[in-house]
Amino acid sequence: MDYIHNQSHAPNGAPERKYDCVHMADVYACKYSYRYTSEIIYALKRCKDLWNVNNLKVLSFGCGPCTDLFAIDYLHESGKLKYQNIEYRGVDYSEAVWRYIHRDIKQFENQSRKIHFYYRDACELITEIEKGNWVPNLIVFQYVFSDMQKHTSLQSINYFMDTFAKYYNQKIGSNTYIILNDINLGIGYGGGREYFDQLFMKLEGAIARKGRFCNDNSKSEYYPRGYIYGEGSDGEFPDNTNFFDISNCSEYSPFDTCASAQMLIKKR
Ligand SMILES: C[S@@+](CC[C@H](N)C(=O)[O-])C[C@H]1O[C@@H](n2cnc3c(N)ncnc32)[C@H](O)[C@@H]1O
Repeated sequence: MDYIHNQSHAPNGAPERKYDCVHMADVYACKYSYRYTSEIIYALKRCKDLWNVNNLKVLSFGCGPCTDLFAIDYLHESGKLKYQNIEYRGVDYSEAVWRYIHRDIKQFENQSRKIHFYYRDACELITEIEKGNWVPNLIVFQYVFSDMQKHTSLQSINYFMDTFAKYYNQKIGSNTYIILNDINLGIGYGGGREYFDQLFMKLEGAIARKGRFCNDNSKSEYYPRGYIYGEGSDGEFPDNTNFFDISNCSEYSPFDTCASAQMLIKKR
């Protein structure tokens, strides 16, 4: 997992594996989901126009174990998100990896909570999404561009972004949000942060804010609080604490603080 997330730690700087087995998925869900979910909770707390939406429709690219859905559920339970109905559509080509976690998640489905998974390459499915008429009011790219950067060709990523922009510009309504959340690293260092701006530049009528959490695990001598990203002098958000009590999770030592780079895009 360390090699996959931090290419520079892998022998020869190239991890031999990607997300490719259910055991890895279990470790990922236990070790990373408290952090990743917390990062999305912070983002959603800034998406004010979503708080009172009645029918929340979410499109999540590279959804994996759905840490965005965990965050939505957390904020619904705590009364911040007031939706009556939610429809969540997750796209991920790694069916064999996530199927048990998805099976567990689908057990929570009911009349007002619909969850669908599309086990397809997002760079192909986007063609159908663009032609269709289903439109979300929240779109999430949660740690997916950094993964696409490693395993998807540049040509496919560019096609995805162009087609997504066409869909966005023609069909997406006002006050729809996009949350881009990912490892706070540029493309050359195993991240995919540049894709946030590349995508934003293609979108019409969109406004964006960006920033980053203090990284308590930073190993950089020059950036002990993590790399600079976003507005202000260094873009750092005021708080990086997790929203969950992990005192009983010592067996798999989850990350207990947030550390990502984030961009929020809203359609005017
Ligand atoms: C780091 S994981 C992020 C998982 C998730 N978003 C989360 O909440 O933690 C990256 C995910 O993106 C998926 N992925 C990467 N490239 C993809 C593509 N081209 N199409 C569909 N899924 C993709 C991988 O299978 C993996 O599940």
